[in-house]
Order: sequence, then C-alpha cells, then structure tokens
Amino acid sequence: MWRILVIHGPNLNLLGEREPEVYGRLTLGEIDRRLQDHAASAGAEKGAEPGLELRSFQSNHEGAIIDAVHGAAGWADGLLINPGAYTHYAYAIRDAIAAVGLPTVEVHLSNIYAREPFRHSSVITPVCLGQIAGFGWRSYQLGLEALVDHLQDTASQAEGESS
Ligand code: DQA
Repeated sequence: MWRILVIHGPNLNLLGEREPEVYGRLTLGEIDRRLQDHAASAGAEKGAEPGLELRSFQSNHEGAIIDAVHGAAGWADGLLINPGAYTHYAYAIRDAIAAVGLPTVEVHLSNIYAREPFRHSSVITPVCLGQIAGFGWRSYQLGLEALVDHLQDTASQAEGESS
C-alpha cells in the first residue's frame, strides 16, 4: 500500500470557474474524486485491496503548504504537488520538499512553457523526480502513475538487493 499526499496550491480551489479555457471545467473536488477512483482501480487491477491511499490538501498559503509537506514525512511515501503560482518563486516550498526527502512529482494543468515568460521556470522541479504539465486534470493522473511506478521500482530494486 502506497500512501500519497496530493497538494494543491493557491487558487486551485477555484477550479471549474477560474479561467476554464486555461484550466478546464472540472472542480478540484471532481479532480480529487477521479484520482481516488484511479487509486481504487489501480488496486483492483492487481487483485488487491486499494494499493494506493490518497489524501488531498489545498491551501492558498505558503506556510500551510510547507506544514503539509513536513507532516507528510510521518505518513506519506510520496508527494504529488501542483504548487500553482508558487511554482515560480517559492524557495521555501522547494526547501521543504528537499528537507523531507519524499519522492515528489510536480504537476500542472496547463502547459506552463506555452504561457507567459514568468511561468517558464519552476524552482520546485529540481527537487522533484520530474514534472508533468499541459494535460489538464490528466496531468495529475499521469503524475500519480509516474510516482507509483517509481515507488514500485525502488521497492523491487531494494528487494532484489537484499535477496
Ligand atoms: C498552474 C500553472 C501556474 O503558473 C498557475 O499560477 C496556476 C496553475 C497549472 O496547474 O497550470 O495557478 O500550476
């Protein structure tokens, strides 16, 4: 069972009504529901109980996101994060991710590289396994799959080394 904390940053609570031409029409609740469905079916495919436990957290405040990252260290195996606009300048969130050392995947609904220049750089990606951007809500699903594959690969590698 992998435990993943999904973190949604500022303004993502407004999804559905916020610039739908850029971010799509799904609400944050709907995205979280789809991720939960995906988590449940990922377990079912393997004939097991849900192989994934997802918790979801949204905040418009940098410090609250940092606290959530710290708190995840006692519970989660990995982080899936859409840092919103904090992506582009929040060194303290980057430091929090580096400090806890949890495998992390960064996701964005929009293709940040096809937008305004200030969105073209992320201070978060260097402390992540990688970044997925531009696929709407499916960026989250793809990010989750990449994170779980990474956790599984790492676990089977460790098992191989110990046997
Ligand atoms: C975003 C991209 C950011 O540049 C923006 O500030 C957001 C959403 C995305 O998911 O596309 O709030 O992270």
